[in-house]
Amino acid sequence: MNQSKQRCIIVAVDGPAGSGKSSVCSKACKRLGWTYVNTGFLYRAVAYICRQRQVALDDEQAIGTVIDEFTKSLVWDPETQAVWFQGENISGHLYTDLAGKDASLIAKNPLVRSKLLPLQRDLALRSPVGAIVDGRDIGTVVFPDADLKVFLTASIDERARRRIHQLKDGEVASSEELETIKASILARDTQDAARGVAPLIQADDAILLDTSHLKIDSTIEKLIELIQEKNLV
Ligand code: C5P
Repeated sequence: MNQSKQRCIIVAVDGPAGSGKSSVCSKACKRLGWTYVNTGFLYRAVAYICRQRQVALDDEQAIGTVIDEFTKSLVWDPETQAVWFQGENISGHLYTDLAGKDASLIAKNPLVRSKLLPLQRDLALRSPVGAIVDGRDIGTVVFPDADLKVFLTASIDERARRRIHQLKDGEVASSEELETIKASILARDTQDAARGVAPLIQADDAILLDTSHLKIDSTIEKLIELIQEKNLV
């Protein structure tokens, strides 16, 4: 791994599903002129391709072959976060509830994780200045020597409310819809936190940022303040 002194600045942001990592990190990167790497897209893309090819999500060998092909032909645009596989822009298929659930299933597999590890490091280290990298194990496994580690979280009620707001484009949700989303988020968190390899956990040296009572702009401000306090910009 290229973690020599010359490497770009790395800020690791981990946290549970729906904690707002992608909105906060992408907007912070736009302000700083840094690269945003949302590592969840890799797990989602592999899961999506497996489903397209009717590869069972517990068929380790077949998933391994998919990852090898994916790694060879992946084109990723850090500006738009668009993901191209074998000439096709698959970005529009990755952020469904199903792709999230499938991603969490394959993410339990140690072979999948070890195959996706160098790719995550490579995408971040391509950045000329700095990168904010978000996921579940960035501060613990992908970049254990990150320049700053943040664990972003929010209460389950607030995370469900935000997810519904996103899915329904601001329309009011029924209490059943809210309960369904809550159950789906909690199931994914439990699966991510309980797995034997690289579980969702706050790194010992990560700063906890609870955004339950914070608006997105204030959360971005806080993250940028933490980066400034470390003299990284
Ligand atoms: O962050 P996102 O919700 O897109 O991630 C989808 C799934 O991919 C997560 O629920 C998790 O199981 C897996 N993931 C992971 N490690 C990462 C990023 C994502 O295990 N660094």
